[in-house]
Amino acid sequence: MLDYKKISPMLIFIFGGSGDLNFRKLTPALYNLYLDQAMPENFSIVGIGRTAFEQGDYLKKLKEGIDEFSRRKDDQASWEKFSAHISYVAMDVTQTGEYVQLEKIAKETEKQFGLHPNIIFYMAVAPQLVPTIVKNLGKQGMCRDRKCTRIVVEKPFGHDLESAREMNRMLGEFFQEEQIFRIDHYLGKETVQNILALRFANALFEPIWNRNYIDHVQITAAETVGVEGRGGYYESSGALRDMIQNHILQLLCMVAMEAPVSFEANEIRNKKVDVLNAIRRIGRDEVHDFAARGQYGPGWMKGEKVVGYCDEKGVAANSQTETFAAVKFFIDNWRWQHVPFYVRTGKYLHEKSTVLSIQFKPAPAYAFPKEAAETWRPNRLTISIAPEMDICLRFQAKRPGQKMILSPVDMVFNYKDEYEGEEPEAYETLLYDVMEGDATLFMRADQVEAAWEVVMPILDAWQARKPVDFPNYAPDSWGPEDAEALIARDGHNWINTVPK
Ligand code: BG6
Repeated sequence: MLDYKKISPMLIFIFGGSGDLNFRKLTPALYNLYLDQAMPENFSIVGIGRTAFEQGDYLKKLKEGIDEFSRRKDDQASWEKFSAHISYVAMDVTQTGEYVQLEKIAKETEKQFGLHPNIIFYMAVAPQLVPTIVKNLGKQGMCRDRKCTRIVVEKPFGHDLESAREMNRMLGEFFQEEQIFRIDHYLGKETVQNILALRFANALFEPIWNRNYIDHVQITAAETVGVEGRGGYYESSGALRDMIQNHILQLLCMVAMEAPVSFEANEIRNKKVDVLNAIRRIGRDEVHDFAARGQYGPGWMKGEKVVGYCDEKGVAANSQTETFAAVKFFIDNWRWQHVPFYVRTGKYLHEKSTVLSIQFKPAPAYAFPKEAAETWRPNRLTISIAPEMDICLRFQAKRPGQKMILSPVDMVFNYKDEYEGEEPEAYETLLYDVMEGDATLFMRADQVEAAWEVVMPILDAWQARKPVDFPNYAPDSWGPEDAEALIARDGHNWINTVPK
């Protein structure tokens, strides 16, 4: 059982209550928090959707989600107790008049609990609906109580810098920044949070964590899935917006940020914003030297025939959307000057792996005979976020025998070996934090905007110069040749993980 603090009574409205996100992630996460006794004694969850459902049918649908996606599922008695806290309201969220029902539910819940609950509005809906819902909640006066109401907004947060600013402005009309929880689910992952522990709870790494010792950093978020029926969404996004603007830049911030003075939400977020502000802006005419894009064609993925991106449902036959992106960033500050950060992400790549590699500089002098060092490699720290969850430090060791022969060996910390039981899912951590009102793992308005500023030159240049060679990579590969060339120009190569 994990150690959770008791929290105040809670009323959670999930807009998009009949949608996929609730089904796959939110209800399973809340259910697991319930099993861990992390939910307050008084809580109520109200799903809101357009489709009408009888209570029984709605619960049945959610239960199917638990059976398929929850990390713990086989306890019928607990499910029955938990689901007694759930209800469903069918409404058209574009109609202001319909919000009266929510106000009524809030009042009834208060009566039932005997005290005023904290209210969470979770936006698990298409992004274009968020402004409508927020404005209607505002008109109905439901976000009046600034102390007790919170709003959770999913990504994509805007489509570009301008729309993100507009979204922040609109949210700011009705909510204060402390009430707004912008989700980046990567920040809820245990292995991602552990980067802070590794860096700032150990005196060992800090002295070498800089340009004097680190040669370069690589961040890979490779997926073996295609767009999985989300072609419509992906067409308006692409790999740069979908993964780099948010998840990957967050990982980069964790590696590059200065030590926080405290673990207070704004302190951590300030340090991350400093990194984003220090990332060198790529000139539009030099994008080719700093970024590469790709799109998968038809082919075979782990023995199965798959269609090319342009033949996916919801995708234009001549689509120029990238399903792969690689970028070289520089951070212009004292710690990181001249250290390249290479990042890449893509669909239908050879392995599913999210990995950070910190490549150290070679030893400055080498006393060993030439033959001792044939397999010599510089030190490397590899932080595997998923599906492997480990941290591995590579160093040189002497091979047993009469001769001095060196070879690289690994010192490994593995979550599964070290800790018993399962770690909480990212959404469990994040939902608990929203209930507790802790915004450390959420994106602040300026953070989101700074991340958009970083990618805008690339987006603009790619928009202006259509790709001429799409599709340019095969499923089950490591992406397009341009990405190899991007890193090879600097004398490096991408580190491809080998599954254990
Ligand atoms: C989402 C993207 O934010 O992250 C998806 O929209 C992507 O396209 C997913 O597949 C990857 O998340 P994870 O946790 O599986 O690495």
